[in-house]
Amino acid sequence: MQIDPEAGRRIHGKPEPRVHIETFGCQMNEHDSEIMYGILAQMGYVKAQGPDDADLLLFNTCAVRESAVEHAFGRIGQLKPLKYTNPDLIIGVCGCVPQVEGQVERIKRMFPYLDLIFGTHNIHRLPELVERARSERETVVDVWESMGDDFPDILPAAREGDLKAWVTIMYGCDKHCTYCIVPTTRGKERSRPYEVILAEVQELARQGFKEITLLGQNVNAYGKDLYGRHGEGAFDFGDLIELIDRNSPGIERIRFTTNHPKDFTRKMVEQIARAEKVCEWFHLPVQSGSDSVLRRMKRSYNRKQYLRLVGWIRELIPDAVITTDIIVGFPGETEEEFQETLSLVEEVQYDAAFMFMYSERAGTPAAQMEDRLSVPEKKERLQRLMEVQNRIARAKNEARVGKVYDILVEGLDKGKPDVVFGRTRGNILVTFPGDESLRGRIVPVRITRAGTWTLEGELVESPVTLA
Ligand code: 5AD
Ligand code: SF4
Repeated sequence: MQIDPEAGRRIHGKPEPRVHIETFGCQMNEHDSEIMYGILAQMGYVKAQGPDDADLLLFNTCAVRESAVEHAFGRIGQLKPLKYTNPDLIIGVCGCVPQVEGQVERIKRMFPYLDLIFGTHNIHRLPELVERARSERETVVDVWESMGDDFPDILPAAREGDLKAWVTIMYGCDKHCTYCIVPTTRGKERSRPYEVILAEVQELARQGFKEITLLGQNVNAYGKDLYGRHGEGAFDFGDLIELIDRNSPGIERIRFTTNHPKDFTRKMVEQIARAEKVCEWFHLPVQSGSDSVLRRMKRSYNRKQYLRLVGWIRELIPDAVITTDIIVGFPGETEEEFQETLSLVEEVQYDAAFMFMYSERAGTPAAQMEDRLSVPEKKERLQRLMEVQNRIARAKNEARVGKVYDILVEGLDKGKPDVVFGRTRGNILVTFPGDESLRGRIVPVRITRAGTWTLEGELVESPVTLA
């Protein structure tokens, strides 16, 4: 990508203009914001302290549930006064919301003063978008239906932090679950070539990063679009994991998210089990424990098949941490169907779960379905589910007291000068007494106290510096 280092100065009429991005939603959006910061840095921008001192302000939005959209819109409205205090400020809205039909008009109606609206498929065109936002009087709207052929394999990224990095392995999702807006906002599956991914990981290792998370809407579908499904030349997610595990000196931990149980094969579990750096954490969104609801959701697996996958993981990686996403109150969900979700949660014994009330997304097949539940009904089910899951999570964490885990220390715990935090390989957050010098090291920590979501511990022995 050719980027003019003088662009920022030209657009704002001053050296080192400042940019601030507010990000909503999933890791994919977080990483897109890192890429936008990377592109803007090459245009001569520096990061602002916050929205107040920004010359360019972007809102990277999420559309997965209506609450996420409202959250972003609330924040955009709240920051409107900045347009008066700084008339030269350029404000843009991007990410998933503008990709949804009808939303650009809604955004323009609500926030007529915006300079720029764009989507998820053209962030690589940011330099020209910002130039146009400056020179054109009307709101510049540029939303692409899909990722163009000019989307570069390699984009600059200004990453948050210097220990953990996200690495996109594929874009989009071909699954079309009936409740989900993601195929609309993120388009079709498109894998990045494995050489490009490996080179990015090796570069991150050279820069001193210790942990990478392979990102995709459905990482288990990696490679299908690029290398075929079977036979000669096929190269799937398990092969990618093996390749990176063996060829990333300096990287200590490899994670991956998010998974689709349908595409997660036993071969992949075996490859993960063998790979040394790949962490024992499986986020396996189940959505429902009821076969009839799973059918209506078009999840393309049933309860038995899902439990078979969980079984492979427990068999091959006995100490694996398994987490999930669950939706309650899907259209037509009966009390019996909901009970099956409760019983599945009891059966799997998840370490943690993200639990949501179904949110209708216009344009998805589920939005046309009958028998929608009332908000109080959905709330009541969510409450019951959370009680069950939180009890399980707490019991699982209590069973960890007395055990020793390797913790990658990320830094000081907020506001405390003598407590640090980090994560187990299973991705459980642990705090323990320590100082800044531990940052970036992997140290053994004995668990002393358990909460529902986090653990407390103490250092077992003086740590060895990892080169
Ligand atoms: N309503 C509620 N939750 C949803 N999710 C996706 N779409 C919806 C929706 N329409 C949840 C799923 C998914 C997670 C990222 O968000 O559980 O796994
Ligand atoms: Fe949505 Fe299903 Fe794709 Fe996940 S796999 S992003 S739930 S469509």
